[in-house]
Amino acid sequence: MTRNTHDDVVLEAQNLSKHFPLRGIGAKGAVHAVDDLNLALRSGQVLALVGESGSGKSTVARLLARLYTQTSGTVLLRGEPVTAKRGKAFRAYSRRAQMIFQDPFASLNPVHTVRYVLTRAVRIHDPRLKGPELEDALSALLTRVQLTPERFVDKFPHELSGGQRQRVVIARALAAHPEVLLADEPISMLDVSIRVGILNLLKDLRDRLGIAILYITHDIASARYFADTTYVMYAGRIVESGDSESVTQMPAHPYTQLLVRSAPDPENLARTARTGANGEPPNMVTPPAGCRFHPRCPFATELCKTTPKLLTIAPGREVACWGYAAAVPGALDGVPEGVAVPDLGSAAAPVEVSGVPR
Ligand SMILES: Nc1ncnc2c1ncn2[C@@H]1O[C@H](COP(=O)(O)OP(=O)(O)OP(=O)(O)O)[C@@H](O)[C@H]1O
Ligand code: SF4
Ligand SMILES: [Mg+2]
Repeated sequence: MTRNTHDDVVLEAQNLSKHFPLRGIGAKGAVHAVDDLNLALRSGQVLALVGESGSGKSTVARLLARLYTQTSGTVLLRGEPVTAKRGKAFRAYSRRAQMIFQDPFASLNPVHTVRYVLTRAVRIHDPRLKGPELEDALSALLTRVQLTPERFVDKFPHELSGGQRQRVVIARALAAHPEVLLADEPISMLDVSIRVGILNLLKDLRDRLGIAILYITHDIASARYFADTTYVMYAGRIVESGDSESVTQMPAHPYTQLLVRSAPDPENLARTARTGANGEPPNMVTPPAGCRFHPRCPFATELCKTTPKLLTIAPGREVACWGYAAAVPGALDGVPEGVAVPDLGSAAAPVEVSGVPR
């Protein structure tokens, strides 16, 4: 297992929330897209954020990229709160934390060649670069994303496949020497046969350049393959987190268990499809009280209508589910006697909290 220290942390979200007020005449209320989210992106590591459609994943990426301003909470870069919203400060921040979007077709302007796109990106970082030095910089970027420079540098986007375009988008992001890549479903629009190639490229950047990567996906199988840590999001909240192997092989939260069960083939990324848990996701304007999963959870009791805390069930593993409260010291403090605690039975993941083996 990777040993983490706080010095590794590049970008951090602390108690981050985003509520989108409803628009329109007489509209009241807000979409609770993200609530009280905490996570830390570490250098040389990939953190996967997994969840079904509408769970708030892209909103998290956009908050971290400062494309949205949070309703509450803090984003910290290298321990310093980030307040940049626009102008010079925003551009300086964007260079350090680069976003990669889902659609490589929309990300590149069709009238510009790869040379133009990368030259602009390189010059933002180093405005005086020209001649052979500029050529070398463009070649180095294309080589880094495994595209042969002389074959691709003068191509237009329409001459490239989806995978090649996404590689150019990644090369453009790398031109600024970012510390963080925020990749929002970077492979979901690509042909299944080339998805693994793009994930391997990102892995290579993680390992060779030490970049911290947020990898957003619907597909928990790819999180196991690619990410060091996996966070599972449901209806705007993190419900489980930990090292990817444990979260995907021994999921603790009933929602993660549903996600894992409905992933068709964890060993074969090419065959995995978009999947979700059974039942309907909740209304995010009036999300269910307490555990937001309770209307869909087979183990729910009355207690689940109050919000479960994130409980540490093993080193580096957290889960927000009342079903683990009896095994974690202090987790039932304040809960009146006689209230039924959910019994996950054989579905419960092992708890390894020191002093209370189970
Ligand atoms: N700009 C916005 N204005 C209003 N509501 C928004 C906005 N962006 C997102 N939302 C709402 O916030 C919630 C979370 O959306 P988000 O796009 O973050 O989910 P997601 O997990 O990325 O979904 P998907 O997997 O479909 O991309 C949804 O209910 C969505 O409708
Ligand atoms: S048992 Fe309760 S707290 Fe746990 S996931 Fe189900 S509804 Fe939520
Ligand atoms: Mg999204």
